[in-house]
Amino acid sequence: MQATIDIEQLGFDAGAHVLVKHALAALAPGDALLVRGRAPDWQGQLAAWCRAQGHDCAFARRGEEDVATLRRRADPAGAAGQSGAGGRWRGALRTGHADPALPDALAERADPRWGLAARGATVEAGSPAIAFRLDRRDEVWGERAADLYAQAAAAQWDPQTAIDWAAPFELPDIVEDAVVQVLTYMIENEVAALVVPARFLGQLHPHYREVQAVLAIQVADEARHIDVFTRRVRLKGREPGLSTAGGQASLKTLLDEPDFSVAEFLLSVLGEGTFVSLLHFLHEHAPDPVTRQIARLAARDEARHVAFGMTHLAARLADDPGFRARLANAVQSRNDALSATSGLNEEVFDALILLAAGGLTVEAVAAGYVKVQQLMRDMAEGRQARLERLGFDTDAARHLSSLHTRNFM
Ligand SMILES: [Fe+2]
Ligand SMILES: [Fe+2]
Repeated sequence: MQATIDIEQLGFDAGAHVLVKHALAALAPGDALLVRGRAPDWQGQLAAWCRAQGHDCAFARRGEEDVATLRRRADPAGAAGQSGAGGRWRGALRTGHADPALPDALAERADPRWGLAARGATVEAGSPAIAFRLDRRDEVWGERAADLYAQAAAAQWDPQTAIDWAAPFELPDIVEDAVVQVLTYMIENEVAALVVPARFLGQLHPHYREVQAVLAIQVADEARHIDVFTRRVRLKGREPGLSTAGGQASLKTLLDEPDFSVAEFLLSVLGEGTFVSLLHFLHEHAPDPVTRQIARLAARDEARHVAFGMTHLAARLADDPGFRARLANAVQSRNDALSATSGLNEEVFDALILLAAGGLTVEAVAAGYVKVQQLMRDMAEGRQARLERLGFDTDAARHLSSLHTRNFM
């Protein structure tokens, strides 16, 4: 049975080539396809298209009409699948397929010639190579990346509706000032937590799209945190408080870290992990409902950021246990670099006490002080537990936890 297609009134200036191309694709190379049509000059258009595509085309008169016989060209050697009839796929690259039996398999190293193409796509020869600095699986991957992205996508919240901005409260001036100071400090930490993944995001080969997605949504999370903390600062008409040299010096060391894994360790495992404790503290002890709601929502997001840091570092260390020494050195040298700074500024520390105290009586301040001491212990123990989960022994974990920046992040 001769394969036949009738393109009716459709011209090659209106899409007829799509029908012919797909009819040809269904044939074996060398097989013939009969084409009939009625659009003005469809014969000339078809002949021109066949010349451009490299197919043979001959016309014969059958009764009242012309019929074209096309012969599908042989696929060029080495053409990738999906080639249809086109010679343009000669030498095309298939992205990421070390093992064709695994259609979505990850490459150990992503090729610059894959560029921006979807993982698994066939890339036409001659496409521009695009250099991404982070192109090795081991330096970026984490087993839970896809899962953490899915969780994050499902857990996005709208700052306008998720927080009851109109909740009635009035705080003593001194307590409101303390809340504003703590949030001012937190905003600059959130900015660092946005900038660090954003910088790596632009250097990450898109082949590792699950990691790309995690970093992208993490950046969006941090933008939302900056937004809601800023709104709370201004809720009662205040301006932001103080930003200190020591705080910014600590954060700058995170921005200056060029290695993705080391940066994930310092920022997410140690810094954001410590921030989760701070956010839980604010959720429990903040003196107003708006700050408590903000802290609860931000803590949920931060827990995911920590989880990605943990899954990435677990994979990296499983590949290369020697990398643990590099992480320990990074904590030590960061501590050395920051030894001349005062660490957590006194304003923030005192503001935390006041915020937890809720007033300036002796009893209230004493109680606030105890709560902040407990917070410091929770932070240190949390860091130590995460370090132990990454395979540091108890002494090393305790020591590294104690060397962590006094700025918390
Ligand atoms: Fe955040
Ligand atoms: Fe974060």
